Amino acid sequence: MTKQRILSGIQTTGDLHLGNYLGAIRNWVEIQEQYDSYLFMADLHAITVPHDPKVLASTTRRVAATYLACGINPKQATIFIQSHISAHAELAWILNCITPLNWLERMIQFKEKALKQGEDVSVGLLDYPVLQAADILLYEPDHVPVGEDQRQHLELTRDIAQRVNYKFGTETQPILKVPNPLIRKEGARVMSLADGTRKMSKSDPSELSRISILDTNDAIATKIKKCKTDPTRGLEFGNPDRPECNNLLTLYMLLSGQTQATVAAECAEIGWGQFKPLLTETTIAAIAPIRDRYDEILAEPGYLDTVLREGREKAETLANATLSKVKNALGFAPMI
Ligand code: TYM
Repeated sequence: MTKQRILSGIQTTGDLHLGNYLGAIRNWVEIQEQYDSYLFMADLHAITVPHDPKVLASTTRRVAATYLACGINPKQATIFIQSHISAHAELAWILNCITPLNWLERMIQFKEKALKQGEDVSVGLLDYPVLQAADILLYEPDHVPVGEDQRQHLELTRDIAQRVNYKFGTETQPILKVPNPLIRKEGARVMSLADGTRKMSKSDPSELSRISILDTNDAIATKIKKCKTDPTRGLEFGNPDRPECNNLLTLYMLLSGQTQATVAAECAEIGWGQFKPLLTETTIAAIAPIRDRYDEILAEPGYLDTVLREGREKAETLANATLSKVKNALGFAPMI
């Protein structure tokens, strides 16, 4: 029996944080044996906000090495760089011509990011979800494992696929496969260490708001020491008046691998002074081995290049086949 397929990616704007790990990569690792996995580094998405050309390539490679260090097995998963496969940009153009503008104008992430950018909002930022739809639809995945913040983009992807099928396909012969989001409840929305009502994000100007997967032990300790808490003693899940408390307990639960009931019981009577060292120790225990593997991966000459070359070759074949199918359906002149 052939395996079902998953596809997902992460924008290469900076080093990955606990939100990316708990909301996405950790889940990919857990299901990689069960599914045919396509995982990529979204470097074309990284230039939708002002970027530094001097670091784009190295950030992309760091993200790739982080996937491997977190446990993605290149023998099982196909790992590739988005910009290495031109079908992404080409399908995005075609989908642009089919997507109504007002579908994009209501995207929450666009509105939030545009607000931050002020005058400097590019067409690419608005178009971001169409490129994401192309990324997904090219590989005909059954599921797309992501964090909660990507739900709206996945709904848009489904709408775009259905519109293409409706306009150019037939009921019995759809052109694009309509994928399903795969969003796990736990870890789907990790919040900022500086404000429990905002999500942890690569683009937050404050380093203290997030723990990077590559942070040193000292940096982790400092960030947890300085993170926002509240004056109440006794820690609890799910109190809407205590967003930081819920977030930090959730991090502790996920990183220690304990159940919510165990953590709730352990922390019901303790104060922040006791909890913070516990969270620090647990975070370091979870992250330090990843950091060590990361260093080993980058120290092995040629290893990452081989993974990325093989990944590109495999991904490109699949992507080009879907692109040809779409171009035929839209009536483009066949290649001579
Ligand atoms: P990005 O780079 O913002 O995030 C990558 C993955 O991490 C998840 N995530 C989080 N999960 C929990 N808590 C958080 N605080 C948190 N922050 C991020 C995201 O939900 C995502 O799963 N547009 C995508 C990249 C992309 C993509 C795709 C994803 C481009 N093409 C095709 C899937 C399929 C993005 O910017 O994710």
